[in-house]
Amino acid sequence: MTNDNYSLAVPFYDLWHEDGHVPQIRAGLPALIKDVSDGVLEIGAGTGLVTEVIARETEGEVFAVEPSLGMRSVLLSRLAADAELRSRVTVLPYGALDVDLDEPVGAVVMISVLHAFTPAGRERLWPTLARQLRPGGLLVLNHRERPAPRPGEPERLASYRVGRHAYEIWGQTLEVDGETVRSRFLYRIRQRGVVISEDEVVSVYHGVTGARLAAEVEAAGFVPESAPEGLRAWRRSAS
Ligand SMILES: C[S@@+](CC[C@H](N)C(=O)[O-])C[C@H]1O[C@@H](n2cnc3c(N)ncnc32)[C@H](O)[C@@H]1O
Repeated sequence: MTNDNYSLAVPFYDLWHEDGHVPQIRAGLPALIKDVSDGVLEIGAGTGLVTEVIARETEGEVFAVEPSLGMRSVLLSRLAADAELRSRVTVLPYGALDVDLDEPVGAVVMISVLHAFTPAGRERLWPTLARQLRPGGLLVLNHRERPAPRPGEPERLASYRVGRHAYEIWGQTLEVDGETVRSRFLYRIRQRGVVISEDEVVSVYHGVTGARLAAEVEAAGFVPESAPEGLRAWRRSAS
């Protein structure tokens, strides 16, 4: 499966997300996974920012699922620069619904990926993830309930200096239909104030309330576990 909606955004990804959800994940995730010794499956590993945290905190193998060629390329560069990381991380170049590990793992970690799944996709996702976990294995994801945005004008969301250039990210909500939000992002590079590169990405976000998420996951055989602010965790039931 190839999902490369992300590819145009890849050069901006680490700049923006090091400044977004990643510091909170670095703070909260280690306590949840530090005792997992029998492997971790990471869904939507992206450029590897969270993969590094998982590999540092656990001693087993990491199976990093990433369907986007662009995102995966940065992940592979991260692995190539670190021999220890490269020896333990296997990159799976397809989507979460196609995962079928040889042996069950001790944890599944899915950070900032849930929004990519439609309700029908989530219905297939939870049993697929349960099959990859040993009984008692941990499922961790991040989740926040956000007020529905309103369609509006493009807004500058972030700007980063890289050498002599400014990397800007603009966002615009185009359409809101229940829990589905269609947005347009512009990725701009400026030199001396003049735009020298601009790429547009239109993406769809599938929201889910915390209560509905818990009901779906628990119907697939998981039991809730406590987790730090911004994270949700469950264990696969023993049966
Ligand atoms: C916002 S990024 C998060 C990346 C990384 N987890 C992080 O927190 O930095 C979402 C990632 O999910 C991946 N993704 C989208 N659909 C997916 C699917 N069906 N299965 C697995 N990964 C998917 C995208 O390619 C993208 O790399």
